[in-house]
This record gives sequence, C-alpha cells and structure tokens, in this order.
Amino acid sequence: MKISEEVLLSLVDDARFASCGGNKQEIRYITVADEVNTAKVFSSLKWAQYFAPWQPSTDESPSAYIIMAKKDGNPGIDEGLAAEIITLSAAEKGIGCCLLMNADRSKIASDLDIDPEYKITLVIALGYPSEKVKITPFAGDVKYYRDSDDIHCVPKRSLEDVVIARR
Ligand SMILES: Cc1cc2nc3c(=O)[nH]c(=O)nc-3n(C[C@H](O)[C@H](O)[C@H](O)COP(=O)(O)O)c2cc1C
Repeated sequence: MKISEEVLLSLVDDARFASCGGNKQEIRYITVADEVNTAKVFSSLKWAQYFAPWQPSTDESPSAYIIMAKKDGNPGIDEGLAAEIITLSAAEKGIGCCLLMNADRSKIASDLDIDPEYKITLVIALGYPSEKVKITPFAGDVKYYRDSDDIHCVPKRSLEDVVIARR
C-alpha cells in the first residue's frame, strides 16, 4: 500500500513543532514516496539485527521514507524527539514506522541527489504493518523474537526495573 507525499508532508509538519536544543531547528527532511527511490533507499538498509541474516523481502519493503538530515550530520536528542512525533502521528493513521541507523547514509544521499551541505542523520521507514507486534515482559534478554504463532514479540523491562531511585 502506497503512502502519499501529502501524508509524509503532514507528518513532517507535525515534527517541525518538536522541542529542540536552543530552538535551533537544525533538522531538515527528505520525503521519499516515489517507487524507484524507495527501492534505492531499501537497498541501503540493514534490518533486525537479532534476526540476522534474515532481511525483509521486496514485497515486505516499506512504502515510503522520511529521512532527517543536518549540516553537522550528528544525530542527537533533537532527532529522537522529532522521530517520536512522526511515529506517534503515523500510528494514529494506521502507519507503522521503523527508525534505522544501520543505513548506508552516504549512498542514500548520493542516490537521492541530496545537497552535500546536508548529511543524513536518521532514516524512518513507513508502511502499513503486515505483521502483529506484541510487547512481552523482559525475562533476561532484550532480543525481540517470533513466538510459536509467528507474532513479533518485543521484551520491555518492567517499571520496577527501570526506576532506580525513589527519593
Ligand atoms: C536509534 C534507533 C536506531 C535503530 N536502528 C535500526 C536499524 O538500523 N535497523 C532496524 O531494523 N531497526 C532499527 N531500530 C529499531 C529497533 O530495533 C526497535 O525500535 C527495537 O527493537 C524496539 O522495538 P519497538 O520499536 O517495537 O519497541 C532502531 C531504533 C532506534 C530507536
């Protein structure tokens, strides 16, 4: 299922309100909806390290991407905050997202003919999810896994585990 450029722009329109250090607003965005270009981006990504060497098939590949770029090329908290807005806003539209750092960022920049003044900091893949995902309690291993019903399970630490002090 395709995701229109209009939808991608609406997500960026939400993200541009994200809090950022010094209100500098240094992040720039590249939307990728065109089929030829989504295929180019897909070829530069590495997926799901805990399922290696498995990689998604072309049929399962994302419909679109929102890519962040910045002059200094160093991803930081600002990218994280903007990315969370994009993923939450996309979820509201039934769209799933995956943030990717394991990407050949210079190849993507070259394939998409991005102004060399900007360096890619983060890739967000978007698509309508084809598989179910379930949060499971952390039981000693952070690795996501597929259960016997082929559901993608993501272990999360408990509240007691993550709060280290109550003063
Ligand atoms: C900063 C960051 C970088 C990530 N990089 C990749 C990546 O390169 N490839 C990938 O398949 N997933 C990547 N992920 C997705 C994580 O593996 C995923 O968020 C994690 O397993 C938790 O699952 P959840 O997002 O469903 O809670 C990344 C996530 C974050 C936040």
